Amino acid sequence: MNLGHLMQGKPRADTPGVTIAAPRSYEFFGDVCFLGRRNRAFVRLAELSDAEAGDRVLDVGCGTGYLSRRMADRVGPDGKVTGVDPSAPVLEYARRKKPRPGSAPCTYREGIAESLDLADASFDTVVTSLMLHHLPEDLRPAALREMHRVVRPGGRLLVVEFRPPKSRIGRHLVHGGAGHAMAHNRVDLLDGLIADAGFEVSGQGEVRPWLTYVRATRRR
Ligand SMILES: C[S@@+](CC[C@H](N)C(=O)[O-])C[C@H]1O[C@@H](n2cnc3c(N)ncnc32)[C@H](O)[C@@H]1O
Repeated sequence: MNLGHLMQGKPRADTPGVTIAAPRSYEFFGDVCFLGRRNRAFVRLAELSDAEAGDRVLDVGCGTGYLSRRMADRVGPDGKVTGVDPSAPVLEYARRKKPRPGSAPCTYREGIAESLDLADASFDTVVTSLMLHHLPEDLRPAALREMHRVVRPGGRLLVVEFRPPKSRIGRHLVHGGAGHAMAHNRVDLLDGLIADAGFEVSGQGEVRPWLTYVRATRRR
């Protein structure tokens, strides 16, 4: 039993993805684990998405909407942010959060990354943070193909994942606290998976303390 298990939802029929059912605990541990840098890190991710004012943004596996709200600040009142997640409790939590004045409206809906109930080419920017490791490895390509389908040609993708520590002891600690998927997250495979889904990878890097990201665009 680890922290991840304590927050997990019941298995769903439509996805083997591991859902989060305890939004308050997730937020509490999220703040603690980011060592006071969570807001700074996610504001930086919103910048790295390259989303522009007025963009239609999709946040896949949005959870409590932490990144969705920062994307809403970035794209401003003429933009629109849609968050999708299979977990009803995290979506309820996200909906209760008031948008900041001057930010885009956020709407949240139930859905799964590997089969998005959204129209082709209906977003300018797609972001996903800390979601892919919740899917079994064999479903990650399908999820990225769906992100490719729903972003317009020339549109942007930002994939953010947990970067496991390089040291064995560090990975051991993450394994004990959060489980195998985080401790052994194959972030080295991300750029290849994203390119295979049809995107052109334009950059990658790290955001402290724990995140790695890949940026890409859908070819025109
Ligand atoms: C670690 S949380 C990340 C939440 C949020 N993106 C963030 O950065 O705080 C992973 C999220 O992925 C969601 N998830 C699990 N399976 C999924 C699936 N098949 N499709 C989309 N999201 C999924 C979980 O419910 C959970 O909210």
